[in-house]
Amino acid sequence: MRRALLTALAGTALCVPAVDRAHAQSAATPVPATLNQLMRGTLYPSANVVFAAQDVNPADIPRAKDPNMATDLLTTVFGKWEAVENSALAISEVANLLTLPGRKCSNGLDVPVKNADWDKFVQQLRDAGMTAYAAAKTKDQDKMTDAAGVMTTACANCHNKYREKRNPADRCK
Ligand code: HEC
Repeated sequence: MRRALLTALAGTALCVPAVDRAHAQSAATPVPATLNQLMRGTLYPSANVVFAAQDVNPADIPRAKDPNMATDLLTTVFGKWEAVENSALAISEVANLLTLPGRKCSNGLDVPVKNADWDKFVQQLRDAGMTAYAAAKTKDQDKMTDAAGVMTTACANCHNKYREKRNPADRCK
């Protein structure tokens, strides 16, 4: 499996000019999750870490008994404020995944990556992640509360347009 992949990559590198290669790679970027699965698996847990830092000072959160195996990010070896910083960055990074072509929504429609307002909502999310990252670096909970407000707005702006539908078949339109 591993060797086959390496061979395939080597083949690409040898035969295709750089520009075509960049295009071919981006066109072929696999998108195994539906948009709903991506939200549940990435933005949802990361945003919860950012939101939690309003109510509890992450510095006061004790490490888990086995911090290498902990499932609560705030209690891992990379926990406390570092977990808030990294979750904020993860949100900005996941914003990039929301722009990849080929992904489906849970109702089978394409993620509307070609709509101008989609890009705008994705940029708001990216910015909200960076605002939360800056706030986490200050370790100031008041700043986290402001950043959480920015985050909530960024999530809600897109959800109001593309998710909150009486009929799930109308999502992503
Ligand atoms: C650019 C648009 C956009 C942004 C920004 C966005 N979402 Fe979503 N989200 C959606 C859409 C559309 C769906 C429904 C997807 C589907 O049905 O496949 C969704 C679904 C979800 C779901 C699953 C809901 C369900 O029905 O189970 C969660 C959880 C979620 N989003 C969390 C978040 C959080 C937290 C943020 C902000 C940190 C966020 N989303 C930002 C568009 C967005």
